[in-house]
Amino acid sequence: MTELLAEIACVGVDARRGGFSRHGFDHAELELREWFTAEATRRGLGVEGDRNGNLWAWWGEPGAGAVVTGSHLDSVPGGGAFDGPLGVVSALAAVDLLRARGFTPGKPLAIAVFAEEEGGRFGIACLGSRLLTGAIDPDTARRLSDSDGVSLAEAMRAAGLDPAGLGRDPDSLARIGTFVELHVEQGRGLVELGAPVGVASSILAHGRWRFSFVGEGNHAGATLLVDRRDPMLPAAQVVLAARRAAGRVEGARATIGRITPNPGGTNVIASTVDLWLDARAADDVRTRAVVAEIVAAAETAAAEEGCTVAVTEESYGDTVVFDPTLRDDLAGALGGVPALPTGAGHDAGILAGHVPTAMLFVRNPTGVSHAPAEFAEPADCAAGVVALADVLAHLAR
Ligand code: GLV
Ligand code: MN
Ligand code: MN
Repeated sequence: MTELLAEIACVGVDARRGGFSRHGFDHAELELREWFTAEATRRGLGVEGDRNGNLWAWWGEPGAGAVVTGSHLDSVPGGGAFDGPLGVVSALAAVDLLRARGFTPGKPLAIAVFAEEEGGRFGIACLGSRLLTGAIDPDTARRLSDSDGVSLAEAMRAAGLDPAGLGRDPDSLARIGTFVELHVEQGRGLVELGAPVGVASSILAHGRWRFSFVGEGNHAGATLLVDRRDPMLPAAQVVLAARRAAGRVEGARATIGRITPNPGGTNVIASTVDLWLDARAADDVRTRAVVAEIVAAAETAAAEEGCTVAVTEESYGDTVVFDPTLRDDLAGALGGVPALPTGAGHDAGILAGHVPTAMLFVRNPTGVSHAPAEFAEPADCAAGVVALADVLAHLAR
């Protein structure tokens, strides 16, 4: 498993940001797809792509009631080596381990690789699993565009895929009997519990909102302060309001990690500023309350500066509570490993509304994730592979 991770350690290295930048259907992600296809094929797994750009590698004939594991190969901009790839390489290693044990699945077993889980290129998280389950309109998806103006449809065509087939895929969905995603933990829960592996209990409600401020582009030296309509001012207020609003709701988080002034010159008052809010809380009501407070602050600050603001909800997912029967069954099969919640979103969270779904977490010594310092000790990754193999054997017996 460590060797498999090492094999892809040169793909999508981002010298400017640090870490990895691997985004849906870009050069790096396509190279990883090829790598995965070769590794799966080498193991005698039959690899097929679905209509939504996801890959499926089958041990045995594809069929209903399958036990499916997997994750994603894309990253956030400047991300770590584990978020996504750990679940994919652990799945390959678990197949090796099951075979070494002489295990033959009593049900179809597959490894899935979901497209653009982070939304790092087209903005919508879990794009492949949202399309598969019908959680996003295919026309809307086809029109999504990256920062260079390339649409999802164009990117798929360039990758040799046909965007015409995008959309809810009941056939692929119906084949999943159970889905289990292994993932590096994105917090210190397992460190505090002293356990290398755990199962997921829930995911926070979360979403992404775009704030588009319009002001007046002008000269940074020649324009008196009283004459300005600078959209960067209300944008700055939103950054502060996000921290304030989330701080008032227990367990809530609100982040502005991306802001784009246009045209973006040091000596230019921006004409527009776009920023993206990522907000999360225990439930829908709390998340919506945090966002409403931030939107109100944005509207007030925009009006004070003679600017306008438009707010668009780009994606949203309510709280996910993973199937408690499956969760307890798997925790029991692993000798009573702990269950813990997460603030991170996953394809497993999207699938949980449609099929019995569970997650395994592997201890992360610092809890850092979505950053180059993301890490899991090789011994804990190995424990994750054994746990995944045990779970797959338990479900596919
Ligand atoms: C994905 O990792 C997310 O939580 O945004
Ligand atoms: Mn992630
Ligand atoms: Mn992930």
